[in-house]
Amino acid sequence: MITVQLDKKKHNRDAFDCGVDALNNYLRVIAGQQSSRDNTRTFVLEDANVSESIIGFYTLTMTSFDLNALPEKLQKKHNNVKTGGLIARLAVDKRYVKQGFGEWLLIDALKKLLLASQIVAFPIIIVDAKEGVIQFYKKFGFAAFLDTPDKLFITLVDVRASLE
Ligand SMILES: CC(C)(COP(=O)(O)OP(=O)(O)OC[C@H]1O[C@@H](n2cnc3c(N)ncnc32)[C@H](O)[C@@H]1OP(=O)(O)O)[C@@H](O)C(=O)NCCC(=O)NCCS
Repeated sequence: MITVQLDKKKHNRDAFDCGVDALNNYLRVIAGQQSSRDNTRTFVLEDANVSESIIGFYTLTMTSFDLNALPEKLQKKHNNVKTGGLIARLAVDKRYVKQGFGEWLLIDALKKLLLASQIVAFPIIIVDAKEGVIQFYKKFGFAAFLDTPDKLFITLVDVRASLE
């Protein structure tokens, strides 16, 4: 399985339904536009049998964060750093959930950000977890920022250790 960049001419965005309107709408209307403006990149996992059909997608970009909201040890280590990688969206179509695709997409997103960090360094990857999915990310080693329970991060050190 591989992810490819969202192709508005090919992928059937209208048929995608993860059960969260904001995410469906983002994929349908905003993702392609944002990518063409170099603001974000969206990658989709195609159904191997019907390549227009989207199993799931994620969107990557960078974001700023408050260093003071990280554990003290990390504050010292990353003094003056303000930017991390961001998994801005991640969703699986309802027809394909509970088959391991969410996990696969998350690992794929982490691999891509790890690769990006080898060229332009950043120490953490961040995700704003929607209600009900915090445990999904915690399962893979994400921890909450000290001031925001649904804003999660994982260090590149931990990503590297678990992927390499
Ligand atoms: C959350 C989501 C991506 C999970 O996708 P999925 O393909 O069903 O997940 P997987 O089958 O790969 O599950 C991997 C593991 O995570 C667990 N998991 C899945 N969804 C979970 C959730 N919401 N909370 C806690 N754990 C969850 C599974 O039980 C599984 O654990 P196991 O390996 O011990 O059995 C999917 O349900 C989704 O797109 N939801 C709606 C959109 C959304 O809220 N996205 C997140 C935006 S921040």
